Amino acid sequence: MEILRTVVELRRWSRKERNDGGKTIGLVPTMGALHAGHASLICAAAASCGAVAVSIFVNPTQFGPNEDFARYPCSFDADCALAEAEGAHAVFAPGVDELYPTGAATFVDVEGLSNRLDGASRPGHFRGVATVVAKLLIAAEPDRAFFGQKDAAQVSVLRRMAVDLRFGTEIVVCPIVREADGLALSSRNVYLSPDERMKALALSRAIRCVEALTAGGERRAGALIEAARQMLAVAAEIRVDYVEAVDWGTLEPVETAGPGTLFAVAAWVGGTRLIDNTILG
Ligand code: PAF
Repeated sequence: MEILRTVVELRRWSRKERNDGGKTIGLVPTMGALHAGHASLICAAAASCGAVAVSIFVNPTQFGPNEDFARYPCSFDADCALAEAEGAHAVFAPGVDELYPTGAATFVDVEGLSNRLDGASRPGHFRGVATVVAKLLIAAEPDRAFFGQKDAAQVSVLRRMAVDLRFGTEIVVCPIVREADGLALSSRNVYLSPDERMKALALSRAIRCVEALTAGGERRAGALIEAARQMLAVAAEIRVDYVEAVDWGTLEPVETAGPGTLFAVAAWVGGTRLIDNTILG
């Protein structure tokens, strides 16, 4: 597996694989600290693309001033081993200056969508995500890019961006991967104390509750939101950020849940902000 450090190296690798090798190119953008959720993305990429690159870059522009950029978990050697074991052919791990050269002043803002859900409580977050993913797509020129459903609002923003900017890259979404007890995998789960780890199960329980209610015929978004809020109100350590039922395409709130409704929750468990969701069928 190759380790690539510059945009020129990544583009050269991608073009060589496509032009000389006749391969389709898959890109799995990550911020490292890889877990089984990322492994499922790499595995899906390897199953449908002849050449797969995993990017590992903790993107400063998607973190707010008081967020965890400086302490974001890092495990580069283990990440490379996992990426290779899951079928990646290259890891792209640039420095900050490579993606944000001195004086960088160009950003991608997906208007409207960027201010919804996580974008409302983390101003500038989706602008940073869209900007870095645009840079990665321009550099790697992939046929497909793979993202997890856990970041469902991010997926909406990136799909809109990929269409609007005519990237020609298919945005592939892979299911949420969960621990045996239901907790959605996240690189930030390592921040949780054993007690917080137990309390964090309230998020997946809230999601399961909504799935059960909708399976039983409940369609009123207000009733679903109220039920989820009750599931999250089990511990003082849990502070709800949002509980929303929205259209997954536009991220606009819906009154009646139905196919394509994204039901999403975000909550602080102690000092750690976690998210979870379900897409109603
Ligand atoms: O989902 C993530 O890990 C990040 O937001 C992404 C897409 C790699 C952009 O930095």
